[in-house]
Amino acid sequence: MQTRVLPFSDESIAEAARLVLAGEPVAVPTETVYGLAADATNAEAVAKIYEAKGRPSFNPLIVHVNDLDEAERIGQFDKAARELAIRHWPGPLTLVVPLRPQSRIASIVTAGLPTIGLRVPAHRAMQALLRATERPLAAPSANASGSISATRAEHVLKSLGGRIPLIIDGGPTKRGIESTIIAATGGSLRLLRRGPIEIDAEADSGGRIEAPGQLASHYAPSKPLRLNAASPEADEYLIGFGSIGGDVNLSPSGDLVEAAAHLFDLLHEADASARPRIAVAPVPNSGLGAAINDRLRRAAT
Ligand code: TXA
Ligand code: MG
Repeated sequence: MQTRVLPFSDESIAEAARLVLAGEPVAVPTETVYGLAADATNAEAVAKIYEAKGRPSFNPLIVHVNDLDEAERIGQFDKAARELAIRHWPGPLTLVVPLRPQSRIASIVTAGLPTIGLRVPAHRAMQALLRATERPLAAPSANASGSISATRAEHVLKSLGGRIPLIIDGGPTKRGIESTIIAATGGSLRLLRRGPIEIDAEADSGGRIEAPGQLASHYAPSKPLRLNAASPEADEYLIGFGSIGGDVNLSPSGDLVEAAAHLFDLLHEADASARPRIAVAPVPNSGLGAAINDRLRRAAT
């Protein structure tokens, strides 16, 4: 794939919006770091973020929205969360709140969790892309897995060149570090990640920071799960892959992007089924398969 780098303009945003609505991830600056943005309501588009980053595991991703009204249609804000949003948005603050069940956010975005990280970015390029697509945009930092976050378009190109179709160049980012993350899910505020905004939520977490990706950020079904199953036992609900059919199938054609896109929905379906145990057909470990197998192994233990 050829990666184009276009300066931020009305035209480049229109092109980025066209790609996003066609299900492709594009790199775009925010005030913190460059993000790799995809339509958060399109599971396969979000799976392509993971494919491009070569990330060997699924983490819940931050979803970017236009304003607090849009955020409140996706997540449930209590008084404390709303006050923080009013004070700091647009800006480098992410709020983790309960996900509204009727929101159209793809389950791969939250990695199956019932909560969601939301923020209103303060950069004109990301704001323009949100308006042009009229979609919530999931966007982790635009760098390959294991390398540092990108604060310039050249960093993105070096890290993800050849793997994504477009980078919007908005110059160096102002803040240079990722947003502060605060969870407002259980009546109190907890600091999940330090960032540009200092907030007293630390008092609530006893000064201890929950490392990114740690806080209950691993959804797992409540039933026992068996991996690499060629066929199911009588009491198992089989999640198939490719030619191993199953009760449901991650991807009948063996496509790993499709499989990643369906993974969390199918785990939830298996968990809700009448059968007491879950089995999953073998998934090859190449490309996105590594992230899928990582999640399945965690779910199995
Ligand atoms: O500044 C930023 O926040 C950048 C720019 C691009 O906006 N984005 C960013 O996204 O850093 P990302 O996806 O790399 O950060 C995701 C982190 C996860 O590792 C996790 O710690 C936290 O956000 N997170 C997101 N949703 C969560 C949830 N539902 N529960 C707990 N943590 C969550
Ligand atoms: Mg990151």
